[in-house]
Amino acid sequence: MEILAALGDIFGAERLIPIKSVQIAGVSFKNIGEAGLEWISEMEGNVAVKSVLNPAGMDLLRWREMGISEEFASRQLAVVEAYRKLGISTDCTCTPYQIHPDMARRGDHLAWSESSAVAYANSVIGARTNREGGPSALAAALVGKTPYYGYHLDENRAPTLGVRVECDLAGSDYGALGHIVGKVVGGGVPLFRLPGRPTQEELKALGAAMAASGSVALFYVEGLISPPADSGENEERMTIEMDEIRDVYRMHSGEGSELVALGCPHCSVPELEAIAGQLRGREVEKELWICTARAIAKSRPDLVESIERSGAKVICDTCMVVSPASERYRKIMVNSGKALNYIPGLCGVMAGFGSTEECLRAATGRD
Ligand code: F3S
Repeated sequence: MEILAALGDIFGAERLIPIKSVQIAGVSFKNIGEAGLEWISEMEGNVAVKSVLNPAGMDLLRWREMGISEEFASRQLAVVEAYRKLGISTDCTCTPYQIHPDMARRGDHLAWSESSAVAYANSVIGARTNREGGPSALAAALVGKTPYYGYHLDENRAPTLGVRVECDLAGSDYGALGHIVGKVVGGGVPLFRLPGRPTQEELKALGAAMAASGSVALFYVEGLISPPADSGENEERMTIEMDEIRDVYRMHSGEGSELVALGCPHCSVPELEAIAGQLRGREVEKELWICTARAIAKSRPDLVESIERSGAKVICDTCMVVSPASERYRKIMVNSGKALNYIPGLCGVMAGFGSTEECLRAATGRD
């Protein structure tokens, strides 16, 4: 309660409001270390609302196959156990909305941490959440409330920048678009005018990339995700053409990658289906990770088996950014604008960018 009250004071919140659910970052032992583990372990009590964890630093079951040390694994398992004791679901995923649709519905107030989940919840679902830090999310989970400020309030949800896209986009192009726009809009609220109608997965990729290259927590798409009726016409405009999208691929070639990693944010069932289809009859020549939530993998063992027949690994509970396992490679190829942004800084590894098809071609060495 002290953490929530202090945050409320800083941001001028007049009160706390009840929340529907919480998503808690600060799970990977790589990021929180011994001090974080100690802090969580000292907590007592039970969460007041449905709460889930962000990805951990390893697949909680197959960590040995990832080359994780016994020492790291024991600390990581202790972190997850400390959260579990507080009543938090140990689904470690950045896409909780893909496995628990009841956690967030239009108009619900939430306290979610992971930036791509926040962007998705605010924009695609139409719920309301600030981008919480790990401690404030945990505090909100235990109290069942969050300070009423920021994206919980109508006045902070109006678009600040119009973005007209003048080319047809598909798949990872949305990650490239987010990579470009996030840098310009920073912490603002973009309103896109797109020639096509993006899928849920493409919206997920767009929001994730903008949350990484900027700090976008909310966006709109004309005709699909509408801004509030009274938010007025924003003046600022930018236009995106195909050359700029192509530049993102050109400037981040995947050549020389030692690991290919898909699933940032965590893959949905349709994404696993597409990957399984493209891998049919092929064998990997280099390490290929497909990251997803355990519940998604469990729901489709046929897809996991089909993907792994190629030699790829379906990795659960973690990802290429928050696991120390990716640090042993010199270069990682991804189809995600968010991973492209984070891998160099958070893993100390070079990153290449390509479409899902290009990534799978790079992993299997086959056209
Ligand atoms: Fe999720 Fe890891 Fe990407 S937490 S959004 S897969 S960096």
